[in-house]
Amino acid sequence: VSGRPMVVAIDGPSGSGKSTISRRVAAELGLAYLDTGAMYRAATWWCRRREVDLTDPAAVAVAVRAMPLQMVTDPDAPRVVCDGVDITDEIRGADITAAVSVVATNLDVRAELARRQRAEIAAETHPGEGRSEGRGIIAEGRDITTVVAPDATVRLLLIADERARLARRARELHGADDDATLEATRDLVVRRDADDSTVSAFMTAADGVVTVDSSLLTLEETVAAVLDVVRAAV
Ligand code: DC
Repeated sequence: VSGRPMVVAIDGPSGSGKSTISRRVAAELGLAYLDTGAMYRAATWWCRRREVDLTDPAAVAVAVRAMPLQMVTDPDAPRVVCDGVDITDEIRGADITAAVSVVATNLDVRAELARRQRAEIAAETHPGEGRSEGRGIIAEGRDITTVVAPDATVRLLLIADERARLARRARELHGADDDATLEATRDLVVRRDADDSTVSAFMTAADGVVTVDSSLLTLEETVAAVLDVVRAAV
């Protein structure tokens, strides 16, 4: 792995394991790591903090354009800092998770955040400006392979069947994947994917995008599969 700074774009639905896997692969390859979903979550947190009416799309867009957001792209300790507050943990909470789709389906917000995401990628791929010696970056989300970085070095869609995604989220949220926790998780995962898919088709791979299906793979196996794809491409 050498030469020009590499950009790895990874998309996938919630519960595909893409955040964990992207971080691991980025750490392994010495790349920066950008969680774009966290930026939509931060935008939601910011609107809440400014008491912006989430049902007013124009007001939400205005607020997000003024959001003072800093993404720390170290894969070993990624942080999200907004208005001087470290919100990394807070934006994973149920409150933000329940509200984020409204913000993420706002097309003006998407344009603004895609612009910032491209700026993050540029900063990490231009030696001297970057925060990882310009070696490159892994950016993950829903529209990275298609909208944010369609010319990435490697474009990958990480999928898993609904059953596998539900089980992972149930273990994450409730520490178990028995019948009760699966049922409690179903609405969250299935409804959010349905909401999210109204703005980007992240369940099917665009032309030139490699699909990795993690349904039957362990975390380690999925990391290895993604590393194989990246190494084969450079
Ligand atoms: O991956 P996540 O759960 O942190 O994503 C949070 C929300 O942002 C979710 O509603 C999907 C959306 N999202 C998006 O629309 N585009 C992206 N590039 C990343 C996330």
